[in-house]
Amino acid sequence: MQFETLKWVGGIDGFLELTDQRRLPGVYEKLNCQTPEQLFEAIVTLAVRGAPAIGVSAAYGVCIAGRQLSQDISLTDALVELKKAIDYLASSRPTAVNLFWALERMQQKMTVFAGDCPDGSVDMLRQILLDEAHAICAEDQAMCQAIGQHGMPLIPEGGAVLTHCNAGALATAGIGTALAPMYAAHEAGRRFTVYVDETRPLLQGARLTAWELTQAGIDAVLICDNMAASLMSAGKIDAVITGADRIVANGDTANKIGTQGVSILAKHFNVPFYIAAPSSTFDLSIETGKQIPIEERSANEVKTIEKVSIAPEGVDVYNPAFDVTDAGDITAIITEKGVIDQLEADQIRHFLE
Ligand code: MRU
Repeated sequence: MQFETLKWVGGIDGFLELTDQRRLPGVYEKLNCQTPEQLFEAIVTLAVRGAPAIGVSAAYGVCIAGRQLSQDISLTDALVELKKAIDYLASSRPTAVNLFWALERMQQKMTVFAGDCPDGSVDMLRQILLDEAHAICAEDQAMCQAIGQHGMPLIPEGGAVLTHCNAGALATAGIGTALAPMYAAHEAGRRFTVYVDETRPLLQGARLTAWELTQAGIDAVLICDNMAASLMSAGKIDAVITGADRIVANGDTANKIGTQGVSILAKHFNVPFYIAAPSSTFDLSIETGKQIPIEERSANEVKTIEKVSIAPEGVDVYNPAFDVTDAGDITAIITEKGVIDQLEADQIRHFLE
């Protein structure tokens, strides 16, 4: 990749450097997060976004909180302060489970340290937390690579795949989830086309996926969200691959608003519909997709495009950021452990063990 989505700079006193996704593709700029508040703002405003990238960033967010502890703070008080930072970061966005998964891992590290080394120093704790955040980041990169290898056979030579939103390198610490099979196939010399849904309202497809794929030299064709049916009915799409924000016990999957519609179209036109996601995106504590909290965002995102008003000021708006694709409409889920093609609770649980 010619860009880094996120990077920790320095040691325990370091900071998180993000590629600011709000201004892409026009402006490529870095955003440094040195306080939990700056990272919270970056997550809420989608400077960093995509389920795995949010999770990895939040893990580093706990390290950022560690930076702010006063010099003479006791270990007990430091643990209380860090727990507050974890709760604060967890309140940034509700749908992508990777956020809670990563913060839970950081909390576990703290708890184990407090139990094992009650006389340990705050700096020792901060180092352990930074090591854990680096581990989460490295695991995410490895999971993306593995998803790429497992998903690559699903992209036919000379064929075309469709994707929705951005589940690429910009959404992870690695090469992405939905886009990973495309990067792997491209590297292997396969020729194919990727149709990219623009993904209203925030245009992650147009602004981010089209940018990423074009930079990598992959043949990308941008379409408006309402054009997928016409392409599928003309037999021009061989497969759909999207990412996920949360996959629950029965296989129901939350992803960017509009994914559900694409899955229903794919079923109608007999096009295989794949979700690509790492195990950190599974939430087996929830039985069905109906229980997934869906983020609702500001009306302005629908009433404007790039700050230009496109609707009457006073009109009411409904703006859910995600929808839930029924497990029955998903052909298979590509994970770092392989492809789950039997989407039943027992099979999914067994596969992830
Ligand atoms: O609101 P966003 O841009 O964070 O939504 C992102 C998505 O829906 C992605 O498809 C999902 O997080 C998977 S990213 C690998």
